Amino acid sequence: MNKTINSNMKYYLAPMMGYTDCYLRNLAEKLYGDSIQTFSEMIVDKAIIHNEINIIQKHFLKNNKSAIQIAGSDPQEITQAINIINKIELIQHVNFNLGCPSSRVQENMLGLALTQNQDLVKKCLEKIMEFKGDISVKCRLGLGLGEDKNYIFSYLNLFSNLGIKEVFVHCRNGVLNLDTKKNRTIPKINYNLFLECKKNFPKLKLIPNGEIDNKETFDLLIENDVSDFMIGRQFAKDLTFLEKLSIYKIKDKQISIGKFFNEIKDFKFLNLNLIKKSLFTILTNIPNAKNVRNNISKFQDIDSLEEYFVDSKIWN
Ligand SMILES: Cc1cc2nc3c(=O)[nH]c(=O)nc-3n(C[C@H](O)[C@H](O)[C@H](O)COP(=O)(O)O)c2cc1C
Repeated sequence: MNKTINSNMKYYLAPMMGYTDCYLRNLAEKLYGDSIQTFSEMIVDKAIIHNEINIIQKHFLKNNKSAIQIAGSDPQEITQAINIINKIELIQHVNFNLGCPSSRVQENMLGLALTQNQDLVKKCLEKIMEFKGDISVKCRLGLGLGEDKNYIFSYLNLFSNLGIKEVFVHCRNGVLNLDTKKNRTIPKINYNLFLECKKNFPKLKLIPNGEIDNKETFDLLIENDVSDFMIGRQFAKDLTFLEKLSIYKIKDKQISIGKFFNEIKDFKFLNLNLIKKSLFTILTNIPNAKNVRNNISKFQDIDSLEEYFVDSKIWN
């Protein structure tokens, strides 16, 4: 019997610098409810230690449901950051970045670069484990261009031994000294190796990431008992694309948008341009999209913007 789409499926909005700010995350949560989990952009532990109040207040709304994604490579600093996060009730989930290949991150031995030293990764993760809430990691399938089952298997063993149960796997290798854009295209997507990991580590919850933006990929993964999906760029382009693929039906957009505005209205760091940017991600499939976008661009305050969304017939 063919496995099919069902209501137990869960979606994860991937952490993306410059995209997954508190507005886009809040909008995703209002549209998808409990079917989505969102992640902040990567925040380096040093930033939390040295600029705690601003960092947390700028990245998280007061009813926050998002996980914080952090990066670090010094166990002592990670402890300091975790001690701070442990005191912030609105953060219930910490995700540790082991996949970012950017040169700045690389210079500081964070993200993907850190995985060259598994012993240090272990020491860092032991400190992450001092977080009181949920803990997960995000990593790559391999390091360098060639397929390397040992890399991912030994890391999954490490996570499992440390008691980390949730692992987001970007299903392509990461390559150091290759820019971030090329790192999202040159190493090939390898869902087969991901599925092999899933078979070999049945106790871990492994969530695939990487170009899960079309029906064929969903079908392949669903056929192999995957029901959780982390999605980045396609959500940032079109937050409603799961509807277009007939995978998920968003219940009532008008009500969801109303709730979105309610939550952000009294935000201390309100940024109208970023709010508009997040709203543009839900306007790709509507009739007259260009006109609607033009109208929205003109609003100079949040009340007029809200009125336009809540009163107008955009969705009809
Ligand atoms: C602009 C941009 C910024 C990103 N920033 C982060 C980040 O802060 N942390 C992280 O773990 N991954 C980051 N990523 C990687 C994504 O989370 C994701 O792994 C990647 O885009 C592959 O998924 P996709 O094909 O669904 O986009 C970023 C990707 C993009 C395109």
